[in-house]
Amino acid sequence: MRPHDPRVDEALAAFARHFGGTPTRLAGAPGRVNLIGEHTDHNGGLCLPFALPQRTFAALRPRADQIVRMHSTHRDQSLEWDLREARACRGWAAYVVGTLAALGHRTGFDILVHSDVPVGAGLSSSAALTCAVAVASSPEADLTTLLRATITAENDYVGAPTGGLDQSVVLGARAGTALLLDFSRPESERVVRTAPTAVPGHEWWIFDTHVAHDLADGGYAARRRECTAAAEALGVPTLTLASPAAVAELSLREATLAARARHVLTENARVRAMTAALDARDAATIGTLLTRSHRSLRDDFAVSCAELDVAVEVLLGSGAVGARMVGGGFGGSAVALLPTGSARQVGSALAGAFGRRGWRAPTPLAAGRGNEGATRVV
Ligand code: GLA
Repeated sequence: MRPHDPRVDEALAAFARHFGGTPTRLAGAPGRVNLIGEHTDHNGGLCLPFALPQRTFAALRPRADQIVRMHSTHRDQSLEWDLREARACRGWAAYVVGTLAALGHRTGFDILVHSDVPVGAGLSSSAALTCAVAVASSPEADLTTLLRATITAENDYVGAPTGGLDQSVVLGARAGTALLLDFSRPESERVVRTAPTAVPGHEWWIFDTHVAHDLADGGYAARRRECTAAAEALGVPTLTLASPAAVAELSLREATLAARARHVLTENARVRAMTAALDARDAATIGTLLTRSHRSLRDDFAVSCAELDVAVEVLLGSGAVGARMVGGGFGGSAVALLPTGSARQVGSALAGAFGRRGWRAPTPLAAGRGNEGATRVV
C-alpha cells in the first residue's frame, strides 16, 4: 500500500456516510495474479503468485448485537445479516459473514467495503475481501489462523471448494516478489522462498476478458473431482506424487483423467523452471513457460474458453513474449509479459480482434511487480 493511500480516505468517508462516525479498525488486502502454477494447489503442488496494486479495504466497528451490517461502495449495495444464521448467507455477504463466523466472532460489526479489485476477473477479489475482513476484525490472530479462517469461509460458507493459493498470497505477499508456495507442506510452512518479479525491459500486464468466472459454480468443483479420481486411479494421495510413467499408462485406459494428471506434473515442473528464469531475469524463458502453461490448461486441464484462447494468441501475435490465462479458468483474465511501452499497441490489437468477434474489448491493468499482502491500516 502507498503512504497516504487515497483509497483509505475514501473508505473512511464512505464509512462516515453509511454508518456515522469512524471505524475502530481498517485493513487492506490485495488482489493477486498467479504467474504460474494453476490448479496445482489442490493437488499438493507448486504455485508462484504475486500481489496486485489493486486492493480491498474493510473498515469496521463492533456492534453490541449479532447483526452484521455491510455496505460495499463498488457494488453500491447495503446488506445485513444475523451472525447466528451465517451458514444460510449467500452472495458477497457470505464472504464477509463466513469469515467472521470462521474466526469465532459472536457479536456483529458495521463493515464498509471499498475496493478496486475487479470482481469475477480471476484476480482473487474473493480472497481480497475475506482477508481484509479477517485482518480488520481479528488483528491479534496469527497468519495460520487467518489462513484457515479465510479458506473455511470460502469452502464451507460460500461453497467454493478452492485450494488455498489465493489466501496464501493475499495474506503473505511481499513487495517486489512472487511467492513460491508448496502445497505439500502445512499452512504455516508453505512459503518456500520469494522470486524477483522485475524483468528488465519488460512489464507485467493483465487483460480482463470480462467473461465472468464464478468459483462457486460447477466447473471448478468438477475439475477437483476429476483430480481426486485420477489420484485414486494412480494410487497416490495427491497428483503431484504420481510418476510420469504411471500417467502415460493411465492414458491408455482413462484419457481424460490422465490428461488432468499430466497438467499437474508438467505445471509443477514449469513452476520450478519459472523460479529459475525469474532469478536469471530471462524474459524469453519466462515467456515460453507462460505460453506452455496456457496450452496445458487449454488442452490437458480444459479450463480455458474461446475468449481466453483468442486473447493469448493475439497477445503473442502482437508482441507479448508470453501469455496465459490466470486463476481457476472458464473466464477471467490473461497475464502477459510485454516489452516496456508496448501495452497500448497490444491492447488495441486485442480490442480489434475481440470487436471483430462481437466481444467486448478486454480491459488492460498494469500488474506492477508485486505488492505487500494484507495489512492493518488503523
Ligand atoms: C482459484 C482457486 C485457487 C486455485 C486457482 C487455480 O483461484 O481459488 O485455489 O485453485 O483457482 O490455480
